[in-house]
Amino acid sequence: MHTPVLTKEIIEWLDPKPGENFIDCTFGEGGHTFALLDAIEPDGKVLAIEADPELYRKFQEEGEIQNPKSKIQNRLILVNDSYINLKNIIAERSFGPVNGIVMDLGLSSWHFEESGRGFSFREDEPLDMRYNPQTNSLTALEIINSYSEEDIEKILKDYGEERFARIIARKIGEQRKEKPIRTTFDLVEVVWSALPSRYQRKKLHPATKTFQALRIAVNSEIENVKKGLVQAAEVLAKEGRIAVISFHSLEDGEVKRFFKRCQEIHVFEIITKKPIIPGFEEISVNPRSRSAKLRIAKKII
Ligand SMILES: C[S@@+](CC[C@H](N)C(=O)[O-])C[C@H]1O[C@@H](n2cnc3c(N)ncnc32)[C@H](O)[C@@H]1O
Repeated sequence: MHTPVLTKEIIEWLDPKPGENFIDCTFGEGGHTFALLDAIEPDGKVLAIEADPELYRKFQEEGEIQNPKSKIQNRLILVNDSYINLKNIIAERSFGPVNGIVMDLGLSSWHFEESGRGFSFREDEPLDMRYNPQTNSLTALEIINSYSEEDIEKILKDYGEERFARIIARKIGEQRKEKPIRTTFDLVEVVWSALPSRYQRKKLHPATKTFQALRIAVNSEIENVKKGLVQAAEVLAKEGRIAVISFHSLEDGEVKRFFKRCQEIHVFEIITKKPIIPGFEEISVNPRSRSAKLRIAKKII
C-alpha cells in the first residue's frame, strides 16, 4: 500500500472547504484523494486521474468506490487517462469550478512492489517500466537494446544525473552484442560491472540512478510535467491553489521555473518561497518521502 507523502501539509496549504472541487492528477492508491474527499464533505467532489490502467481498475472495480453506502459515492470521479489531457478530461465531464489541484509526481509503491514491470532492481522482472502499456509502445527493453550508446548516456546523464553515464552506456553496448539485456537483474549486473568497487559499497544502490533515468525516459515524465502544469494553470479558478510534489531536482526545477514565470505574468502568487519538505518523523516512517519537495501557488486572476 502506498503511503501518501506530505498529506497533512497538502491539506493545510490547499485549505479545502466543504462543497469545493479538487483535481488529483496522480491518483496512485488514492491517499491524497481520500484526504481531500474527507475535507470537502458532504458534497465536494474530486476528479482523480490515473494513467495506469491496472491501478485504475483496482480501485474502480474493487475499491470503496463500488460500495453503494460509501460516503465517496458520486463524489469521486476516477478517470484512466494522462493528466496531459487535463483540459479535455474536465471539459468532457463539465467539472468545475476547480478550487485546487494536486500533482504527486513519479510512481506509486505499487509499481515497485506489485506491477511486475521492472521498476525495481530488487526483483528480477522484464524491463518494461511503462505506466500505461496500452498507450505507450516504448519500453526500457527497447531503449537498452536498440538506442545508441550516446543516446543511452544522455538519458542516464539528463534524467538520472548519473556521473558514470558514459561507462555504463559503454558496458551496455558491449554486453548486448553478446546477448540482449532482458531483465532487471541483467541490467543491474551490467551497471554493477561498470562502477568502481568503492561505489558498489555505497548506501545508495548503484543502479538507482539508471533505473530512475530509464523510467523517466520511457514515460516522457519531464515533458508530461510541463504539459500538465500549463493546463493546470488554465483550469484553476481564481483563488484556486496548486500543490506539486516532486522527487528529484529535474522535476522540481521545472515546477519552480513554471511557478516563477506565472508569477511574473501575474497569473500565480507563489505561496511557498522555499519548498516544503517532510519532517524527520515522516521520513522515519516513510523513507520514500525523504526526497520529496512540495511547492504551492495560488491563481490570482
Ligand atoms: C507518486 S504516485 C501518487 C500517489 C498518490 N498521491 C497516493 O497518495 O496514493 C504517482 C502516480 O501517478 C501516476 N502517473 C504518472 N504519470 C501520470 C500521468 N501523466 N497522468 C496520470 N497519472 C500519472 C502513476 O501511475 C502513479 O500511480
